[in-house]
Amino acid sequence: MAASKLPPTIALDSDNEGLVVEIIDQTLLPNETSILQLRTVAEVCEAIESLRIRGAPAIGCAAAAGVALCASRSGAATEDPLLGQLESAIAQLAATRPTAVNLFWALERMRKTIARPPLPPREQLAEALALEASKIIADDLARCHAIGKYGARLLQPNSRILTHCNAGALATAGYGTALGVIRAADEAGLLNMVWVDETRPLLQGARLTAWELAQEDIDCIVITDNMPASLMARGLVDAVIVGADRITACGDVANKIGTYGLAVLADYHDIPFYVAAPISTVDYQLTSGDDIPIEERSAQEITHLGGHSDLPVVPVGVEVFNPAFDVTPNELVSAIVTDRGVARPPYEEALARFIPNA
Ligand code: MRU
Repeated sequence: MAASKLPPTIALDSDNEGLVVEIIDQTLLPNETSILQLRTVAEVCEAIESLRIRGAPAIGCAAAAGVALCASRSGAATEDPLLGQLESAIAQLAATRPTAVNLFWALERMRKTIARPPLPPREQLAEALALEASKIIADDLARCHAIGKYGARLLQPNSRILTHCNAGALATAGYGTALGVIRAADEAGLLNMVWVDETRPLLQGARLTAWELAQEDIDCIVITDNMPASLMARGLVDAVIVGADRITACGDVANKIGTYGLAVLADYHDIPFYVAAPISTVDYQLTSGDDIPIEERSAQEITHLGGHSDLPVVPVGVEVFNPAFDVTPNELVSAIVTDRGVARPPYEEALARFIPNA
């Protein structure tokens, strides 16, 4: 496994008072690579809400780290008040972003660790939670490598791949899901180049995916979100690969707004449309994509370029609509690449084979 040239998206460290959660502040990329140290649950929540850390698996890792941090830095003298603090931390972290199921999946793993009888003394519970958060982070990295291995097998030599948003090392504990497949394809000599959708309104493609690929000298070209139809019509795209925030039991896929449009275009042009995600992104409780909660974000992200420039690009007072995700119906998805293997239609059966035991 080649060592990554990127700093870790998230890492656990400690100071005299307990755990410290370290993340790359993704809002500053590509202009500044700055490591933020988070010491309170409120800081972790703010980092998730403001997309300093983002991407479905990465926010799951951050939420788990937030729970561990709460236990580790708690001033509670006994277990009882600590349990109350942990419940409150879990509730605050669960309220940060609604769409990516990995957040709730990771919090559930932390909740199970807390509930595992008998309740240990305060220090041991804090250690168990730190260990569980570290495992979630390490597992996610391993899952991404497995996704890469399975996904690269789907690609033809000399592939020109189009991707949307950032489903890379920055969106996971490292290596990435869609970008994991792209990295593995590159390592296997199958990749020609990557078309990177800029991904309005927050430009995760232009700012983050292009940054990651450039760090590793993987050839990429950034395009605006209104160009893929024309590129496909000209025969310049061999496959589309995207990540996912939540996949239902029947294979409907919530991902960054604009993904659904790409799937329709890929279908029309007879181009394979692949989704890459760890099995922790599959919500086996939901059968229909209509039931996936879609986050709506602030108008400022659309009225001001990149969300935080001083220059408005929409007349003051004009209404905007900013859903952060859309849902691609399963019939438009050629295959779902998971860490347990590749699921093909019919997805209900294929995904059921991958149901995790734990
Ligand atoms: O709003 P974001 O940047 O968190 O949205 C991220 C995406 O839509 C990703 O494609 C998805 O989370 C998969 S990340 C491996």
